[in-house]
Amino acid sequence: MQSTFLRRKMPLLQVLALLAALLSSLPQCRAAEAVATCSGIVPMRWRREVVSITEFGAVGDGKTLNTWSFHKAIYRIQHLRKRGGTLLYIPPGVWLTGSFDLTSHMTLYLARGAVIKATQVSPQYIGTEMNKEDLDRSLFGASEQDLFLISNVVIKHVTVLAPYDSPNTDGIDPDSSSNVCIEDSFVATGDDLVAVKSGWDEYGIAYGRPSSGITVRRLTGSSPFSGIAIGSETSGGVENVLVENINLYDVGIGIHIKTNVGRGGYIRNITISDVNMNNVRKAIRIAGDVGDHPDENFDPNAVPTVDGVTIKNVWGEEVEQPGSIEGIKNSPFTRVCLSNVKLWGVGASPWKCTDVTGAALGVNPGPCPQLTSSFAMTPCSNDF
Ligand SMILES: *[C@@H]1O[C@H](CO)[C@@H](O)[C@H](O)[C@H]1NC(C)=O
Repeated sequence: MQSTFLRRKMPLLQVLALLAALLSSLPQCRAAEAVATCSGIVPMRWRREVVSITEFGAVGDGKTLNTWSFHKAIYRIQHLRKRGGTLLYIPPGVWLTGSFDLTSHMTLYLARGAVIKATQVSPQYIGTEMNKEDLDRSLFGASEQDLFLISNVVIKHVTVLAPYDSPNTDGIDPDSSSNVCIEDSFVATGDDLVAVKSGWDEYGIAYGRPSSGITVRRLTGSSPFSGIAIGSETSGGVENVLVENINLYDVGIGIHIKTNVGRGGYIRNITISDVNMNNVRKAIRIAGDVGDHPDENFDPNAVPTVDGVTIKNVWGEEVEQPGSIEGIKNSPFTRVCLSNVKLWGVGASPWKCTDVTGAALGVNPGPCPQLTSSFAMTPCSNDF
């Protein structure tokens, strides 16, 4: 099992500038009370230790490889377990590094002008990867019970960049994580910008950790693959996801909810609202046949369910295809509700739907007949 975890393709993260606040205790600007924000979802701690990456020998000249410094710093934060948590300060400069994991009770803080730059030499991932696989890969040999439960994560004001043509460079993937908030960020990568996951087929089912309570807000980005993705590895289940105020341009699939037979698990109570898209191949895709299997041992009877997906207030221009909602034959998607979805620049290509029930109101071009035009008839769960 371990080796399968290790073989799993990790999403890469190449970062030119990153400011991630993990268990953030930064006093946030309180100017606009009315603006929804992640601030406050994580308990504030005032008496924090502050350490600078330079104390661990790092050099921000864009040439020195600082992987070891990051590992040392995070090892120390992890093992000192300061009561108020620790802020790891990254001064202005270009900090070249290989992959590293964050740990609990820490804030990774990038000063203005600080850039964390991933090396090209080997698979890299940093910071925002949050799953067991990564923990298993960590240098520190953490035992199972040492694994920090991946919850209460705030990622704010982050810029994540990877080349448009770079493979497997997901931006931010909450994986088997709860209470995660990603906001006010810019992500432009060669793969999905944000993908909420929870494990892969029989391994994910055995591990059984859902992702829940995930908020993504005020994110802008561009990718040849998906803008906002859920899946396809959702074997532990994904629920209670709120995505709002998103701007996507030059993207393959704007909103992509994806799973597969063999995954098991569920995707439910998903709300996505206020999304602008420009130059998109396909605006919305919800599909039950996406992604491959880790090996031949996946259970063909592990059929996932998708229930309660609301997508509303979407405005798309230069949209090639409006979308498709294709459920699984013996597990149709239920309560899929579209409201006020306006997509322009669409040629003749219509929506394509199979094995789905739900409703659609104010959808242009006109939605497929599988979705009724009355919410009164359909129990659209989320916010109708
Ligand atoms: C559905 O998810 C939202 C977050 O988007 C949450 O506030 C709400 O409580 C969830 N509803 C249920 C019934 O769990």
